[in-house]
Amino acid sequence: MTVKTLPMTDELHAYVVAHGTPPDEIMRDLIEETERSLPASAQMQVAPEQAAFLSLLTKLVGARHVVEIGTFTGLSSLAMARGLVEGGKVVCFDISDEFTSVARRYWERAGVSDRIDLRIGPAAERLRELPTEAHLDLSFIDADKTGYPPTGRSSSRAPGRAG
Ligand SMILES: C[S@@+](CC[C@H](N)C(=O)[O-])C[C@H]1O[C@@H](n2cnc3c(N)ncnc32)[C@H](O)[C@@H]1O
Repeated sequence: MTVKTLPMTDELHAYVVAHGTPPDEIMRDLIEETERSLPASAQMQVAPEQAAFLSLLTKLVGARHVVEIGTFTGLSSLAMARGLVEGGKVVCFDISDEFTSVARRYWERAGVSDRIDLRIGPAAERLRELPTEAHLDLSFIDADKTGYPPTGRSSSRAPGRAG
């Protein structure tokens, strides 16, 4: 099987931004605060158009049970929480109280705190707390990439801000 990657050219990126859902005021404030208060780490945040895609994906699969590994200041989790079905939950794992304290404020402001269950600690350990039977509709792994098992395939990242 061959691996084909569509590069995110400037033209394609401009199209995605022009035709996608722009971030609302809460997301814009979160992006601005992250860039201002955590300049050395802000590039880890997903791009606004990636956040919009995560919301869409969550809605498309009718997700109720979502897991996120790597929450940072909360943009991707906020996006997925907004796409959940009624009663759905995003379980978030991160090792940083500092980063996720920002996330908590924005989840509260966006009215999605009750849809997010944040667990602090190394995800590889804390994931064991989840039920062992298959129950996840969507998982977003965005942390500790050097710890991923090797796949034997090479891949190249499209330009973007996600780490
Ligand atoms: C690329 S950022 C996540 C960005 C986030 N998805 C967003 O949209 O803003 C990676 C995050 O993973 C966290 N992290 C690093 N190693 C981790 C581990 N072993 N378990 C859980 N979280 C980890 C870091 O604290 C950091 O907040």
